[in-house]
Amino acid sequence: MTKFIALLSGKGGVGKTTTAINLGSALNFLGKDTIVVDCNLSMANLGVYLGSPVVSTNLVHVLKNIYHISEAIYSHPSGLRVVPGNLPLEDLKDLDYDFEKSLEGLNGLTDFVLLDSAVGFNKEVLDVLKFADEVLIITDPNLASVTGATKIAKLCDEENKPIRGIVLTRTKDNFDLTIGNIENMVGHPVVGTIPEDDSVRRSLIEHSTVLETYPDSVASICYKQLASSLLGRNYSDGTENKRFFFSKMFK
Ligand SMILES: Nc1ncnc2c1ncn2[C@@H]1O[C@H](COP(=O)(O)OP(=O)(O)OP(=O)(O)O)[C@@H](O)[C@H]1O
Ligand SMILES: [Mg+2]
Repeated sequence: MTKFIALLSGKGGVGKTTTAINLGSALNFLGKDTIVVDCNLSMANLGVYLGSPVVSTNLVHVLKNIYHISEAIYSHPSGLRVVPGNLPLEDLKDLDYDFEKSLEGLNGLTDFVLLDSAVGFNKEVLDVLKFADEVLIITDPNLASVTGATKIAKLCDEENKPIRGIVLTRTKDNFDLTIGNIENMVGHPVVGTIPEDDSVRRSLIEHSTVLETYPDSVASICYKQLASSLLGRNYSDGTENKRFFFSKMFK
């Protein structure tokens, strides 16, 4: 049985695509096969981030009933499987499609499907929200982003869609809202925190995942922790044990 998880946000640029790529990679790392789908039709950038901006078959060909979705799956060298998107501007208004029927073709092909979404509250986003089994709300700790996250949570409630939790991205040492503030505003728990980490930017320059390029970075470890918590497991990168070992040695 495949679990479809939508990554939604009320404000753009908070790290949905970055999280889709790296959470997918972390789930793979933990032995769970995962496919990331670029459902951001108007501004598809999953392929751009992973170094293949144009592919011969993408989600738009699937929505147009030209190909089955299984024919639009690509394997990145890191092992992550993706379905890229790319909607030419001239098709944007006239594309008539059955999102559910197209995406249902992935059922049974993998453990998880992560649906990287557009931003906001339009049809593109609603299709993803309605189709998903559950939702991860992605936000950074800025007030405007968290306000957008509360609107997404309300929309999910109206659609009776289970919210798995909030992924708090790009945190720094000091930010205006505490995790408690954010959980109170949105009404759901923070299930993962990903600090601002330059490794994320550098991994994108290398067109790869942060787990692949900088496996020991803070972001890489935090994405593994997030994936573990979604699987109901505890993740340890061993640093606690190493620290314990060294503190014993130098006593
Ligand atoms: N933890 C992080 N540390 C540093 N930079 C990050 C982090 N997470 C995301 N970024 C950067 O933030 C920018 C926006 O990220 P991303 O494209 O994933 O956001 P998005 O929510 O998908 O945006 P959009 O709404 O436009 O689709 C990118 O340049 C990305 O490299
Ligand atoms: Mg994006």
